[in-house]
Amino acid sequence: MYRITLIPGDGIGPDITAATKMVLAASGVKIEWDEQVAGEEAIAGHGTPLPAEVIASIRKNGVALKGPLTTPVGTGFRSVNVALRKELDLYANLRPARTYPGVSSRFENVDLVVVRENTEDLYAGVEHMVGEDAAESIKIITRRGSERICRYAFEYARKNNRRKVTAVHKANIMKCTDGLFLAVAQDVARNYPDIEFEDRIVDNMCMQLVQKPELYDVLVAPNLYGDIISDLCAGLVGGLGFAPGANIGTAAAVFEPVHGSAPKYAGQDKANPTAMILSGVLMLRHLEEREAADRIEQALAAVIREGKTVTFDLGGMASGRQMAEAVVERMLRL
Ligand code: NAI
Repeated sequence: MYRITLIPGDGIGPDITAATKMVLAASGVKIEWDEQVAGEEAIAGHGTPLPAEVIASIRKNGVALKGPLTTPVGTGFRSVNVALRKELDLYANLRPARTYPGVSSRFENVDLVVVRENTEDLYAGVEHMVGEDAAESIKIITRRGSERICRYAFEYARKNNRRKVTAVHKANIMKCTDGLFLAVAQDVARNYPDIEFEDRIVDNMCMQLVQKPELYDVLVAPNLYGDIISDLCAGLVGGLGFAPGANIGTAAAVFEPVHGSAPKYAGQDKANPTAMILSGVLMLRHLEEREAADRIEQALAAVIREGKTVTFDLGGMASGRQMAEAVVERMLRL
């Protein structure tokens, strides 16, 4: 029995969370949910979108599944997602992108995983004005930060039967910062002779990804390039509706869809639960529950391929719940 923190989230969050819980329950993996409130409801009840109990629960359980949270505009609350990443030192952002037949996209056979460094680079937020007419931002890359993300990428590749890791950088121009990242990636690669290693300059990487994405497998990148490339990869496979994500640290891991809370569909059970279900699949793989994870993914892929019981964005009429029920029914037949 796993005890896992569950944050249903705002907007469509509760609907896609209910659908995901149903599918996870049918996988046979025993989960006791420790449900926590964050986001808009927490602001109303606790005066903060991220109450201390939520952080404490994730720290204690080590794993959380999270729906999207609405970031209030203009209220001074910083993004809950950024705060969670900082508080729990969730240094690795994992974003798989793969094509599912039935989802319209320009490619078939894309199966990529972007491993993005989550704590340093230009996102360290060290920037200031220099007088009135110039601004400066400091790009921070450390050996420790680079080493742990590269190690994570190779370990992920090994555990998930991936054949190749590609490091993404711009070391030809930023010889110190990206040069350090690349040198560390090359060092780490020497410890994984079973995994092929190569590197690409980020601009060339973008061109190659839109021309022949099937040549790539696991990509590891510093924060900014990782951010951009992971959205590019989501675009290759049909958009954010199919993009699960994970933020992983040494003490905790938080799994969540990449999309937001889509407030206009709140409470209508219309939203596509796919990205949230796939985030649950990533979570099961993290827990080494591979057989259950594979079964859910196969059943979901079959339901999408058939295109009968799918949500409006896939051209169907089903509610999120009906789509989840179809996935459960399909799992029983696998
Ligand atoms: P969004 O992802 O909520 O919506 C973008 C578009 O995608 C909309 O047209 C929406 O209807 C559609 N969409 C998103 N998820 C869908 C789903 N599962 N099924 C069907 N259609 C779906 O992005 P937006 O509008 O920029 O942000 C809304 C709120 O979400 C904001 O408050 C933002 O801060 C928050 N947000 C939270 C995230 C998180 O908690 N991880 C991530 C991104 C945004």
